[in-house]
Amino acid sequence: MVIEAVKLSVSYDNTQVIKEVSFTLAEGVVAVVGPNGAGKTTLLKAISGLVSYAGSLKIMNKDLRDFSAEERARLITYVPPLVDVMPDMSVGDLILSDPLVSKELLEEYIELFELSSLLKRRLSKVSSGELSRALLAKGLSKNSKIVALDEPLSHIDLRFQLILLKHLRVLSKGGKLILVASNQLNPLLSYVDRVVALKKGEVVFTGDVASFLRSSTPERIYGVKFEVVFKDGYVDIIPRELA
Ligand SMILES: Nc1ncnc2c1ncn2[C@@H]1O[C@H](COP(=O)(O)OP(=O)(O)O)[C@@H](O)[C@H]1O
Ligand SMILES: [Mg+2]
Repeated sequence: MVIEAVKLSVSYDNTQVIKEVSFTLAEGVVAVVGPNGAGKTTLLKAISGLVSYAGSLKIMNKDLRDFSAEERARLITYVPPLVDVMPDMSVGDLILSDPLVSKELLEEYIELFELSSLLKRRLSKVSSGELSRALLAKGLSKNSKIVALDEPLSHIDLRFQLILLKHLRVLSKGGKLILVASNQLNPLLSYVDRVVALKKGEVVFTGDVASFLRSSTPERIYGVKFEVVFKDGYVDIIPRELA
């Protein structure tokens, strides 16, 4: 197991937003889904050591609290959807601002996410999709065993969505655990091994994609009736009606 959570809870201002959840995750690409406010970001941040939690969280059989800050930073990378940026900073400086990035990998990601013509551009002058691609390049260049991507599909276009998801699949085959929090079930669920579904701070489902989509969970958590089409190894999830 890469991650084992037992009765994991997170509270903000005495309000519990992750409620004693327990799950285990192995290598692979995992979709973390659930409606707005379900706790996806908070769960990713707890796993990344960015918010304090109660209960137990073991990463590769070691308590997360027993890792030094540097060990943890190498092992786990949290990639935010967008960041409050310093407008005068350039894309290149943003990408290089983390000392743990591998310069070699960074070059590969600059190519993959087509960032080379943007490197000198100030952050105040790039689109949200371009900024998001820069954050993905920076985060993935750390080459962490566990990567937690928070809404990585929300700003990038369809082509970059496929570029990213196909690449995540390759990375997971190399032994990484990649968590993808997203509401874009399409195209995400065609590219993941497992689904963790959250509702109001509770894990209401963990399992494979087909079991998730054949269960009542999607309708229950989103309040929407879906039409689901499996074809040629892909799946399309079409929201049809409010439940
Ligand atoms: N810093 C914070 N302080 C207080 N409440 C927060 C904070 N961040 C998130 N919340 C609340 O915690 C709950 C879970 O939020 P979040 O993890 O961001 O959900 P999701 O990513 O699934 O939309 C929501 O009700 C949200 O309003
Ligand atoms: Mg979120």
